[in-house]
Amino acid sequence: MDFNIAVIRGDGIGPEIVNEAVKVLDRVAKKYDHHFNYTDVLLGGASIDATGVPLTDEAIDTCKASDAVLMGSIGGDTTKSPWYKLPPQLRPEAGLLKIRKALGLFANVRPAYLYKELKAACPLKDEIIGDGFDLVIMRELTGGLYFGERKTVEENGVLKAYDSLTYDENEIRRIAIKGFEMAMKRRKILTSVDKANVLDSSRLWRKVVDEVAKDYPQVSYSHMLVDNCAMQLVKNPRQFDVVLTENMFGDILSDEASEITGSIGMLSSASLSATKLGLYEPSHGSAPDIAGQDIANPIATILSAAMLLRYSLDLDKEADDVEAAVQKVLEKGMRTVDIMSPGMTRLGCSAMGSAIAAEI
Ligand code: NAD
Ligand code: IPM
Ligand code: MN
Repeated sequence: MDFNIAVIRGDGIGPEIVNEAVKVLDRVAKKYDHHFNYTDVLLGGASIDATGVPLTDEAIDTCKASDAVLMGSIGGDTTKSPWYKLPPQLRPEAGLLKIRKALGLFANVRPAYLYKELKAACPLKDEIIGDGFDLVIMRELTGGLYFGERKTVEENGVLKAYDSLTYDENEIRRIAIKGFEMAMKRRKILTSVDKANVLDSSRLWRKVVDEVAKDYPQVSYSHMLVDNCAMQLVKNPRQFDVVLTENMFGDILSDEASEITGSIGMLSSASLSATKLGLYEPSHGSAPDIAGQDIANPIATILSAAMLLRYSLDLDKEADDVEAAVQKVLEKGMRTVDIMSPGMTRLGCSAMGSAIAAEI
């Protein structure tokens, strides 16, 4: 079959890791006789350099006309890159937020799974890890602090900055439904994470989640405060199945969850909308500190491409193949430096992508 995939290579390690995901997709296309038409789309720093803005309307239109969007990561060193001298709305991250909003990508799925082969790369003790953990963070992606009103003013000679956190009940309901639907396909445990002891937005969150939960009596669900959740993730990650949470809490908790899988280079992500169109990118950033060295871990991006096949193209078998190929190279002891442990074989970014493609 024929599919149109918009490809955002991005900044830093973005182009390197996207190359590897495309290598894997090409292998899938060959095996199953599909045709993937890739169209490059600029976003972030690369777009600023080429067009003066982090995301153009044409770029949005190309994504909207595609079956799915594959993305690397965007942004630069926020203390050194000249992009961060620009006004905030012209910086790389503004382009990312704009595309999430423009495509209606309200549900961000971030699976944190510990491969048993990566136990040695996990910083937790054996008795905590047991035979592994398997959780997914369902992060709200188009509301909350990221999209609230923002301004900096001077009041009586004192600078004052405002960021507002707003959620309406419909935004909460649709992500809660996604969370419970996900739980139904998994172990049927959902933890809704908020800060209801302080924030009104969290109190509304809890109320709406309680309402939605009534439609899913098979799901065992509970509420947890976000500070406790941050602690529980390292104390006992095995208790979690689906973690449902708002935008910023999900951002922070997913980086924490990534580290206990062995490396942030393992955490994939799917940003889903009300239609089949989704955007697939690793959870990590553009890692300017290791860009251009062929040492980045491409697995998060490759696993994101697997979700692209599954969620946007309905190619389940092909997605299974990609996931199995990742499992296989880990079983064979192949590791990028971030997940390296004694006795394993160290590969660069490109060699890791080739090894995974070769297993398909
Ligand atoms: P980062 O995730 O880029 O890097 C954090 C640390 O993890 C670094 O030491 C980096 O080398 C390492 N790392 C990240 N990905 C890796 C990989 N695949 N393999 C091996 N190591 C990896 O976070 P940061 O340094 O805080 O941010 C850098 C830039 O990325 C910023 O401009 C930020 O805004 C941007 N960012 C973009 C996205 C995105 O595009 N979705 C996500 C997060 C951060
Ligand atoms: C992520 C990133 C983004 C976010 C930034 C780059 C805007 O950290 O995708 O996790 O905070 O959502
Ligand atoms: Mn993040």
